[in-house]
Amino acid sequence: MSPLHSPRFKNPRARYNFQGRTCSITGVGSYLPAKVLTNGELERMVDTTDEWITSRTGIKERRIAAETEYTSDLATKAAQNALASAGVPGEQVDLIIVATITPDMPFPSTAALVQRNIGARRAAAFDMEAACSGYIYGLEIAQQFITTRTYDTVLVIGAEKLSSIVDWSDRNTCVLFGDGAGAAVLQNRPAAHGLLTAVMGADGNKADLLFMPGGGSRCPATADSVAARRHYLRMEGKETFKNAVQAMQTAAEEALRRCDLDIGRIKCIIPHQANRRIIDAVGDRLGATPEQMFVNLHKYGNTSAASVGIGLDEAVKSGSIQRGDLILLVAFGAGLTWGAAVIEW
Ligand SMILES: CC(C)(COP(=O)(O)OP(=O)(O)OC[C@H]1O[C@@H](n2cnc3c(N)ncnc32)[C@H](O)[C@@H]1OP(=O)(O)O)[C@@H](O)C(=O)NCCC(=O)NCCS
Repeated sequence: MSPLHSPRFKNPRARYNFQGRTCSITGVGSYLPAKVLTNGELERMVDTTDEWITSRTGIKERRIAAETEYTSDLATKAAQNALASAGVPGEQVDLIIVATITPDMPFPSTAALVQRNIGARRAAAFDMEAACSGYIYGLEIAQQFITTRTYDTVLVIGAEKLSSIVDWSDRNTCVLFGDGAGAAVLQNRPAAHGLLTAVMGADGNKADLLFMPGGGSRCPATADSVAARRHYLRMEGKETFKNAVQAMQTAAEEALRRCDLDIGRIKCIIPHQANRRIIDAVGDRLGATPEQMFVNLHKYGNTSAASVGIGLDEAVKSGSIQRGDLILLVAFGAGLTWGAAVIEW
């Protein structure tokens, strides 16, 4: 029996079923640039060691986009993979949402460039910024458009070229991040599966824990701002860590509560991939087993808005997720922002 129809699934707010319309993820895809940057190579760039990076973060290597490969290129390739897996041509897409903190440029949107690249002639397109929570925010926005009958087919992409805003002379941050993109096609489907609930949250009081000071209206690019290295991301690692664990636990528990689900019912938990110790702490607090926790950050590091989408694609393609499984996505990022979603696959 589908969990949606089981007696355990009794909270009517648990899923969006607006006048019979449900929202399913009909295809997923991802793209990682070819160049691998290992911890060993970083040892030659800054004062760090493979041992330190591995033990403190769990990261072994990350992907770095080519100089002439931009966020829109990564997003386009992930989108094409997701569309192919859904069997949906670009012309059928109604809306493209790109979640990113590293757009090709301040405007036009990266989503508009993707729209051109995939030939989605009739699609509306916009960028959305919720940092590492962007993919889950994107799923929720897509769901709202679908369940309210505004659109039938929405493409959500999390894409980042973080290597373009990382200070490669700062060992505190440069070892943590990588480039990549993850995408999903969301469509109205009559079947009783899909996105069951999504939780989103934010706390702007802690905006200064993780931010990039330069490049916006507050600090436009000048010779001085470049010299002061204001166009790179900055982070208070320890405080960010504590907030990440707490927020991800709270968001995940709220999503499960809305669906009246125990953690034991979840087949696979795909957390934002920032730090292995954060993932382990969140898993422990939720009462999850290590087998439930999906981990790929040893290969890619933190890819911000792309991370959960890449994880979902890899979990599906590797067979870790089968039709009917319940999965939990959970993320945390700058803003602060956080989000969690429960999906019946
Ligand atoms: C960044 C992070 C890995 C640092 O780990 P930590 O255990 O908190 O380490 P600390 O900040 O206490 O630093 C410990 C020491 O290691 C040093 N250090 C930092 N980066 C280092 C590196 N790459 N190599 C070697 N030493 C390093 C620090 O300078 C510090 O030295 P000190 O004690 O002499 O001052 C960790 O705080 C973290 O992952 N935070 C959250 C990051 C995150 O999730 N960001 C994105 C959210 S979406």
